[in-house]
Amino acid sequence: MDKYDYYAKELEAIKKSNRFRTRKLYNNDLIDFASNDYLGLGNKKKLFKKAYKLLQKENHFAPKSSLLVNGYHPIHQKFEKLLANTNGFEKAIVIGNGFLANISLIEGLVRKKDILFIDEEYHASGMLATKLVDNVTSFLHNNYADLEEKIKNFREMNKNGRIIIAIEGVYSMGGDIAPKEFALLAEQYNALLIVDEAHSSGVIGDNLLGWYDYHNIKIQPNHIKMGTLGKAYGSYGAYILASNHIITFLENRAKAIIYTTAPSLFDVTLGYVALQYIIKHKAKLLKKIALRTQIVEDILDITPSSLILPIIINDNQKVLNIQTKLTHRGFAIGAIRQPTVQKAILRVILKLDIKPKKLHKLLLFIKNELKN
Ligand SMILES: Cc1ncc(COP(=O)(O)O)c(C=O)c1O
Repeated sequence: MDKYDYYAKELEAIKKSNRFRTRKLYNNDLIDFASNDYLGLGNKKKLFKKAYKLLQKENHFAPKSSLLVNGYHPIHQKFEKLLANTNGFEKAIVIGNGFLANISLIEGLVRKKDILFIDEEYHASGMLATKLVDNVTSFLHNNYADLEEKIKNFREMNKNGRIIIAIEGVYSMGGDIAPKEFALLAEQYNALLIVDEAHSSGVIGDNLLGWYDYHNIKIQPNHIKMGTLGKAYGSYGAYILASNHIITFLENRAKAIIYTTAPSLFDVTLGYVALQYIIKHKAKLLKKIALRTQIVEDILDITPSSLILPIIINDNQKVLNIQTKLTHRGFAIGAIRQPTVQKAILRVILKLDIKPKKLHKLLLFIKNELKN
C-alpha cells in the first residue's frame, strides 16, 4: 500500500460492502429517470433564454459579496417577494443551496436551552447541523405519536426552552409525505416547524407549492419552509420562507447566511422564471403528474405519493446489477444504498419531460426483474 493512500483501508471497506461511489459522466442519450429535475425544467431552453435576457438588463452579474454586505441584488429581492407572496409567508431570504439552508436553520434557530426534534430520516445536511447545537432528539420517521411523547417528556423537565421540529415535506428517498399532524402538534406545543421542501415544492399540492399547500395549511408565524432550486425549479440555490421576525433573526445569527457570498444571480433568475412557469402551467403539470401516477398504479400496483418511486431491493449487489441492466437498455436510474438508505432501493424519478411510453417500458422491465 502506498504510504500516501491515507484512507486506503476505509475505501477498501466501502468497496467490500458494495457502497463505493464515484462520480461519472453519464451518456446524454440515456433516458433520465434518476435526477431530481422533476418537471424537466432543466431542459427548457426557453426558460434559460428568458433568464439570460432578464439578467442582461443588469449592470453586474456576480453576487460579489455576502447578502449582508452589498451582495443583495434587486433580482434576489424580486424572487423573494414572488416566493413569499405565492406561498403566503411574510418574508423570504435566498440562500446559496439547500445544504446551507439547513445549516442556517438549525445552527441559527436552536439556541442554548432550546430543543430540536428531528425526523430520523431528515436530510444529511440537517443531520450534520445537529452536531452544532446542544440539544437534539430524533423521532421515528413520520411518527407524530413518538414526537408528541418526546415533547411531553421535554416539557416536564424544562419549562423554558423553545421547541423546534424539523421534518421534510416529501422524503427524498422514500418519496413519502409528512402527515398534517406535525403542524397540529407544532401549534399545540407552540413549537417552530421547519419543513424541508426540497422534494415537495413544485411537486405536491393543488398549486404545486408543496407540503403546506398539499395539506391546506394556513401559514402561521411558527411555520418555516425551506425550498431548493436544484430540483423541481430546474436551477441551483435555495430559499427560506418564514415570518418577518424569523427571517430578521436568521439575517443576524445564521452563520451560513452571513459569512457566505450571496446566491448566484443567474441561478436565482432561472429559479424566478421557473416559479412563474409553474404558476402559469400548474393545471398542465398536475395532469402530467396524475398520468404518471396512474401508470405506476397500473403496472406495479403501488400509488406513489410524489414523483419519487422507491422500489425496495434490499441487496446491494442486486440493485447494482439491475441498474447496469437498465443502463444497457438506455435508462439512467438511481441505485441507492447505505448509508443513504437502510435497505438498497431503485429510485425511479417520474420526470414529467419523459414520455409516458418510456415510463411504461421501464416499469415493465423492473416488474420482470422483481420476479427473479
Ligand atoms: C431533502 C433535502 N434537503 C436539502 C438538500 C440540499 O439541497 P442542495 O442540493 O440545494 O444543497 C437536499 C439535496 O440536495 C435534499 O434532498
